[in-house]
Amino acid sequence: MIEVKGKTALVTGGAMGMGLLWARYFARDGANLVLWDINAEGLDQAAEELRGQVDVMTQVVDVSDRKQIYQAAMKVQAETGGVDILVNNAGIVFSKPFLETPDEKLSATIDVDLKALFWTMKAFLPRMIELNAGHIINISSASGFIGVPRMPAYVASKWGVIGLTESVRLEVRAMQKDGVGFTLFCPSFVDTGMFEGAKAPLLTPMLTPEDAVRIAYDGFRDSKYMITAPWMVGLTPALKGLLPAKLFDVISDLFGANTAMDKWQDTRQK
Ligand SMILES: NC(=O)c1ccc[n+]([C@@H]2O[C@H](COP(=O)([O-])OP(=O)(O)OC[C@H]3O[C@@H](n4cnc5c(N)ncnc54)[C@H](O)[C@@H]3O)[C@@H](O)[C@H]2O)c1
Repeated sequence: MIEVKGKTALVTGGAMGMGLLWARYFARDGANLVLWDINAEGLDQAAEELRGQVDVMTQVVDVSDRKQIYQAAMKVQAETGGVDILVNNAGIVFSKPFLETPDEKLSATIDVDLKALFWTMKAFLPRMIELNAGHIINISSASGFIGVPRMPAYVASKWGVIGLTESVRLEVRAMQKDGVGFTLFCPSFVDTGMFEGAKAPLLTPMLTPEDAVRIAYDGFRDSKYMITAPWMVGLTPALKGLLPAKLFDVISDLFGANTAMDKWQDTRQK
């Protein structure tokens, strides 16, 4: 089992939602925390809650900004000695049909949900490789395996997170640095408010944030690489590979996967 006591865990988007729940688990098990978010007020509240248990460093960082990430990372290295566990959790979603989605929304989604992982991994992975110790947890989604109408940029980012993690993991494997671990977490809908109004497809009911992060955290502690929640999400790639595309489309229609985002409401962005 991966030991986290005394380690330093950095959680992006750690001010609220699942990021805050990750932070609570790390604090419970004695890991010191670095929390990044754009929500300064939320960071203050999180720090106030967790500071009695472990050391908590908070930084207002917009993870869509590469320079902010590199600057904040240098400060983290200097003040904490380095990050042992990185959780790339910050995320945004915007839902409209592709051709009606403003260019800025398409770009911002890729910047926050995918490109930020380039910069955080470039900032923190070298030390992990040098020490042959550390763990990177990247949050993808069930939508990292399928197409979903009305959120193509989000889906593209989550497919990207899987491809990126897989490729970097294989590079680290080729270096024979088996002390550096990777975890991909792919949940279906989770009731944090990010997907307000979305309708969970058949067989993948809306998860509570507590259940989702418990499954992910326990899986990470068990060194699992790919964690899906609920577990049947993990069948999707096999089904897609085996079934003809037209049949898969019809099954997705029947399960409600293709209309899940029809009534989504924006509760996060202005
Ligand atoms: N909620 C779901 O149904 C669901 C399902 C699958 C995957 N996910 C993924 O799980 C992760 C967490 O989702 P959540 O539901 O807890 O979302 P949330 O909206 O509750 O929390 C996201 C956090 O990220 C922060 N954030 C947003 N933009 C940022 C930026 N530019 N820089 C720094 N911080 C930023 C927010 O302030 C917030 O604290 C995301 O990557 C999301 O895509 C969520």
